[in-house]
Amino acid sequence: MEQSQETQKQGKEQKIIEPEKRKGAEVIDLDQKRQEMRERKIQKEYAPIFEFRKKIYARDIAQNQAREVMLSNLETHNKIVLDDAINLIESEKLSPEDRVATIIAIIMHDSGKLSSDILSHHEKGIEYVDEMFGKMEKTEPEFEGIRLTDEIRQKIIWAIERHMNHPYLVGRNGGEKFPEPENSVDKVVFDADMLANIGFKNIGFRLASEDYLREDKQKAIESRTNSIEETFKNVMQDVVKLDGIVLSFSAKKVAKERIEDAKRIFDYLKENKIFKNILEKVSNISEKLEKDRKMEDSSVILTKNLLNEEISKAGMALGIDDKTLDKLKM
Ligand SMILES: [Fe+2]
Ligand SMILES: [Fe+2]
Repeated sequence: MEQSQETQKQGKEQKIIEPEKRKGAEVIDLDQKRQEMRERKIQKEYAPIFEFRKKIYARDIAQNQAREVMLSNLETHNKIVLDDAINLIESEKLSPEDRVATIIAIIMHDSGKLSSDILSHHEKGIEYVDEMFGKMEKTEPEFEGIRLTDEIRQKIIWAIERHMNHPYLVGRNGGEKFPEPENSVDKVVFDADMLANIGFKNIGFRLASEDYLREDKQKAIESRTNSIEETFKNVMQDVVKLDGIVLSFSAKKVAKERIEDAKRIFDYLKENKIFKNILEKVSNISEKLEKDRKMEDSSVILTKNLLNEEISKAGMALGIDDKTLDKLKM
């Protein structure tokens, strides 16, 4: 009797929960569709800017092949920043002109990254934007129905100049800060870039640097861990600060949630000895192949791919949604 009451109760609960669950799934679906449509619209409206950036990256890689390994990280980053920026443009209620300035600044904010020192990539980006404006002069293009006035161009340049105060860059700059965001466009560009840095993307960048790899290997010997864990620790120490660095209320809310998810994934990977397993796997494969520059690059890519797979698995085990996971991955 008791059991059947319990079953009835469970049945009732299920009846209540299930439609809610379905509704949840539909909301996510609609959300994803909305996002895809939004993305396609931006790609179309801003096609000349995307095209220009693509050419710049190709030109820079032709000059310096070693930078090619950075490109996929950068492309992932660019995509995430743009998505976060569009959310912030909406929540911060920017004007249509400021929206255009923000989107163009976002597309171009790291355009100088493949051809400059990291501490001056904003200056290189501004140089490229100037080159782009020069080429556009004759065609006078419109973006979402808005012409690029001098004011909009100036805002694009300022926002690129003022996007640099990530704790890592400030640290590299001897603690000295870069120009601070001032207007609404600067702030959205800055916040979106910081939000996109909450996650494991910088692990990809760090793994690709021989100097950092050496540093992390040394730390691993000292603290009896392993080099990937040290790379994660290094990146995470900046990640956890970013909710205190973003400027708007809406960015702070997103930052707090994303930091929590990143921390949970890091703990999960550590507890399940994923880093050690990946290191062993990669070294087994690498040993079989010749040691040359290309090989180093491909072991970085292999490590990165294996880590991304494990981050996905960890996220699923921890109930973190796909959209967040995509932003956290490298
Ligand atoms: Fe940047
Ligand atoms: Fe960036």
